[in-house]
Amino acid sequence: MAYPLTEQTSDLFLQTFGAKPELTVMAPGRVNLIGEHTDYNEGYVLPMAVDRGVALSGRKRQDPKIILYSADYQEQEEFTLNAIRHDISRPWANYLKGVVLLLKQNGLPLGGFEAALKGDLPQGGGLSSSAALEVATAVFLQKLFKLGLEDLDLVKVAQQAENEFVGVQCGIMDQFASHMGGKDHALFLDCRSLEHDWVPLGTGLKVVVFNTGVKRELASSDYNVRRHQCQEGVRAFSKFLPGIRSLRDVSLCDFEKYQAQLEPVVMKRCRHVVSENQRVLDTVEALKAKNLERVKVLFRESHESLRDDYEVSCHELDVLVELGQEHPLQKGSRMTGGGFGGCTVHLVPAEEQVQENFISFVSEGYQRRIGRKPEYYVFSPSAGAKFLNPT
Ligand code: GLA
Repeated sequence: MAYPLTEQTSDLFLQTFGAKPELTVMAPGRVNLIGEHTDYNEGYVLPMAVDRGVALSGRKRQDPKIILYSADYQEQEEFTLNAIRHDISRPWANYLKGVVLLLKQNGLPLGGFEAALKGDLPQGGGLSSSAALEVATAVFLQKLFKLGLEDLDLVKVAQQAENEFVGVQCGIMDQFASHMGGKDHALFLDCRSLEHDWVPLGTGLKVVVFNTGVKRELASSDYNVRRHQCQEGVRAFSKFLPGIRSLRDVSLCDFEKYQAQLEPVVMKRCRHVVSENQRVLDTVEALKAKNLERVKVLFRESHESLRDDYEVSCHELDVLVELGQEHPLQKGSRMTGGGFGGCTVHLVPAEEQVQENFISFVSEGYQRRIGRKPEYYVFSPSAGAKFLNPT
């Protein structure tokens, strides 16, 4: 049995601060199975939490100081509750600071604290290490200072920290999945009503993720461009469909009827969002009916739509997906997350031999075509922070 991340982090706290922590929490990263770039259009998503994440270990202080130590960056950050400032040279600390500041601005009774943190997710790899850190911080503070917040408040504070303090206009999917994911289940989420349900993935499947190794540094500006194009789409459609609020309100039928009136690029962006929403609903049905051949088709269509209509894929992502699709036993391959690099997700039968064969098939193909072996991870859907840190 591997040395669990929570124990490693608790030991790290002891070494760094010379005392046992009062509390250790952990929040997982996520892989999105399908429903890409739909969350900020009030649409549907189907992510799952993974068995890797970020752990935070710490205790209260008697003064208003906050001292943080990151094992991954080997850096310490110190500030007080009354002077929380964004610091571009310490990006990791901004995720925590954002959550602390927002809770404080909401009038919650926070005090000083010290904490050590450690993660085992690739950073900037599209598995939501930042959402995991935000959720871990929110849950940590909730428990340490007995804040009495609801699950949804914690998720929203984590997302708001990313939007307002870190400055990335992400939707709610990553933080929601990190907090609410369920063991052995994918999480079906309606990003408008926030109604959600856990869909069994079946023990017969494993989720294999390949990392292109292409970092998504420029991704946030492209991400924001896509968001604006969707808003333009809403404006264009509202001439024909008065009162619509988001692309969620545009049905496939409406899209067909009015698409010719749209500017071509905006039309393509809208076609992706509208069709992707339907693919999420269809995937949920297909998973419930154990119709994996249908899931495979939906994953393929999702990738093509992201590549050709939403234009957020890249050569390395396309190569990994093509290789995945060439394997006769796979049950679905597509890019996952925001795009422009990051990871692909593949559904593969759980038998160890099939899995190993699939992984070497894709890795060797990637080596031949791109010139290096990709990193990969084999995940089972895992419990979110809510279930990992019961109150
Ligand atoms: C990023 C964002 C999410 C979501 C995905 C695309 O991961 O953080 O909110 O928009 O991209 O599906």
